[in-house]
Amino acid sequence: MSNKKIMVSGIQPSNNLTLGNYLGALKPFVDLQKKYKMFVFIADLHAITNEFNRAMLLKNKKNIACLYCACGLDIKKTIIFNQSDVCSHNDLSHVLLCHTTLGELKRMTQFKTKALTKNDNNTSFIRTGLLTYPILMAADILLYDTDVVIVGADQKQHLELTRNLAIRMNNKYGKMFNIPQPFILKNASRIMDLVDAKIKMSKSNKNQNGVIYLLDDKQTIIKKIMTAKTDSFNKIRYDKKNQLEISNLLEIYASLTDKNINDIVKKYRNKNYKLFKEDLANIVVEKLDIIQKKFKKISKDFDKKIEPILKKNAEYCTAIVKRKTKLVYKKIGLTK
Ligand code: TYM
Repeated sequence: MSNKKIMVSGIQPSNNLTLGNYLGALKPFVDLQKKYKMFVFIADLHAITNEFNRAMLLKNKKNIACLYCACGLDIKKTIIFNQSDVCSHNDLSHVLLCHTTLGELKRMTQFKTKALTKNDNNTSFIRTGLLTYPILMAADILLYDTDVVIVGADQKQHLELTRNLAIRMNNKYGKMFNIPQPFILKNASRIMDLVDAKIKMSKSNKNQNGVIYLLDDKQTIIKKIMTAKTDSFNKIRYDKKNQLEISNLLEIYASLTDKNINDIVKKYRNKNYKLFKEDLANIVVEKLDIIQKKFKKISKDFDKKIEPILKKNAEYCTAIVKRKTKLVYKKIGLTK
C-alpha cells in the first residue's frame, strides 16, 4: 500500500469547463498528482441539483472526462471515475443529512446567492438538491479517508461544513472519519469574471463575454481578453483593492505561466494595458490550443480507452468505500 496522503475532489459536468475551473482546481490536481494518491471524480450527482437536460448531461460527462486527461491528469495514476457509479456516495450522504440542521444548510453562501436572491426569500420553489448538495459533497470527501481537498475559494465553506460533520460524528459515535484539510491556492483560487470582476468566473454568469471556456476557439479567447474590463490608471499593478480587474488578469497570467506576479509586474512596468492583454491572450490561446488538440484526440478514443477505465475505477472505489459505509452503519447502530 502506498503511504501517500489522499486527495479527493470533483468538478460538476454542468457545462464545459471554464478557465476558473482549470486554474483553481484542475491545474493543481495535475501539478500535485505525483504527491498525493488522487481520486478525481466527475460530480454528476451534483450536476442534477441544477436545471439539466439528459443529452447535455451525458455529453458534458464525456467531455469532462476527456478534459481531465487532456489537461494532464494521468489516467494510470489518478483514479478518475463517475460519482454516480459509486453508490456509497448516496448512502453516506443520507446518514450525514440526518445529522445536519436546516440552519447550517441555509447559511451556505452558494445556496443563498443561487437560490434565495432569485426568489425573494420564498423557498417553496427551490429544488431541495440545491440546499442539500453540500452534504453530498461531505460524503464524497469523508468516504475516502481524505487528507486533502483541492478546491477553489468558493468551496471553502462547504469544506468547513464537511469538517464539522466529521468531528460531530466522531464525537458522538467514536472515530469513523478522517478530518480533511482544504487546499486552496494563494493565487487563482478565485478567478474573476472578465467583464465584472466583482463576481467569480462561472458557467452560470449571465454575460458570457467575461467567461473563458477551455474549448473556446482562438478568436473568441482573443476577443474576450482584449475586451476585458480594466481601469483608467493604465498602470499594471497587483492591487486587488484598487485595481481588481488588472490584478485578476495578472493572476491568470501568473498561474498559466507558473511565474511570480511581482516579476510579471516588473516586466510590464512601463507598458500599457493593450500590450499586456495581447501577451496574455497569446498565452491563453497557446495553452488552450495544446489542451484542445489533446482533447480532440482523446475524445475519439473515449469509448475504447477512457470509458472502460472509468468503469474499472468505479469498481475499485466501490470496494474501498463500502468498508467505510459498513463501519458507519455499525457505529451508529444500523447494523450489529
Ligand atoms: P464546481 O463544479 O462548481 O467547480 C469545480 C472546481 O473549480 C473551482 N472553481 C474555481 N476556482 C477558481 N476560480 C473560479 N472562478 C472557479 N470556478 C470554479 C471550484 O472551487 C471547484 O474546486 N461542489 C463542487 C464539486 C464537488 C466537490 C466534491 C469538490 C462535489 N463534491 C468533493 C471537492 C470535493 C462544485 O460544485 O464545484
